[in-house]
Amino acid sequence: MGQALDRVLTGKRILLGVSGSIAVYKAVELLRTLMREGAEVSVVMTEAATKFVAPLTFEVLSRKPVATDLFAAHQEMLHLTLPEEADVLVIAPATAHTLAKLALGLGDDLLSTMVLTASCPLIVAPAMDGGMWDHPTVQEHVAQLRARGVTVLDPIEGPLASGKIGKGRLTDEQTIVASIEACLLPARDLAGQRVMVSAGPTQEPIDPVRFLSNRSSGKMGYALAQAARERGADVLLVSGPTALPVPPGVRCLHVETAEDMAKALTTNFRWSTIVIMAAAVADFRPDKPSGQKIKKQTGAWKTLALAPTEDILHTLSRQRTRQILVGFAAETEALLPHARKKLQDKDLDLIVANDVTADGAGFGSDHNAATLLTRDCTSTALPLMPKRELADRILDALQPIIKRAAMPKPR
Ligand code: PMT
Repeated sequence: MGQALDRVLTGKRILLGVSGSIAVYKAVELLRTLMREGAEVSVVMTEAATKFVAPLTFEVLSRKPVATDLFAAHQEMLHLTLPEEADVLVIAPATAHTLAKLALGLGDDLLSTMVLTASCPLIVAPAMDGGMWDHPTVQEHVAQLRARGVTVLDPIEGPLASGKIGKGRLTDEQTIVASIEACLLPARDLAGQRVMVSAGPTQEPIDPVRFLSNRSSGKMGYALAQAARERGADVLLVSGPTALPVPPGVRCLHVETAEDMAKALTTNFRWSTIVIMAAAVADFRPDKPSGQKIKKQTGAWKTLALAPTEDILHTLSRQRTRQILVGFAAETEALLPHARKKLQDKDLDLIVANDVTADGAGFGSDHNAATLLTRDCTSTALPLMPKRELADRILDALQPIIKRAAMPKPR
């Protein structure tokens, strides 16, 4: 906890939720550390937590009343106002019962109701007996919370209150504080990078009023552009037709066809240091689009001759000087073998393997699940999560590749 942390926590409003585990006493120390670092901390305790440590301890140290009761709090609407004012909500310790309530969206006390009304980042630090932590139900709840973008800090191994050794101890204070810091400090790890992102579908004209296209909404690519911008990159978005607003601070070139997209990307390729192809580019286009609207005719329209479009990523990989190339693979079967083949054929640094048939993922959805495959054969399976969060996970995975690319090559 160095100087950077002082700056990060000073004046920040942290809502500390405490639930009923033997580890409640560690929340007292956590509160003291956060206060020492200049944070303003409001504490909410579950009834069970008050059995371990009296609210008065937290009241004295936080210099604020401690809220415990949903109904008493209703008068001041604390279940709404406290989360609304908070920069981050941390639940430490979180019991198995609390995790279950959060996963299920229950709101039967002040803390769980606040979680439902909070829009700030949520960090959860579980503590329980080792056997409980390993229970499939608890693990399911943890997975659900993570998929929703909640930061769940794994408990650590060691002696437990039961006398057994196991994984269930509240993670160390430094880890909790570092996670709070990470939520509050916008990562600037892409400062100095020039990131070109393609997004959305292409539209390939059949005639002036009809076209061939696909189901891409552009959400994945726009989320990547926004995340890269927020992490300090200079971002150029090359977008097929979508209904989405361009994220603040992002330059955007709007294109329609695969040919337009290829032109925009190749023209700006030398400028870029990283290219992420999230667009769903048409592989074929009508060979001879009609200059006039094709008239309705009786009977079937038997054939529409199609010509292949340029494989843009392939072209870019042959022109690369120092650029890092990231592709997506939208697959409906044999996800990983197909994605690996594309990674190799297109000579990419990383490919995002996307099973577009998975429930709630892929085209049009606000969520996505993917496996990240890298050139050096690492594979990271990511569960269903908001596209904005997946965007960050993809950019996280680029960090070692960026570092390697920056290292001087051996002579
Ligand atoms: O836009 P959303 O609704 O948010 O949906 C997101 C998404 C499903 C479109 C996205 O996550 C995704 O998977 N994009 C890639 C879709 C695709 O075209 O995949 P592909 O497997 O056909 O192509 C492989 C890679 O080559 C892709 O990076 C693609 O951009 C690129 N490509 C494809 C064809 C072509 N002619 N030139 C290309 O460069």
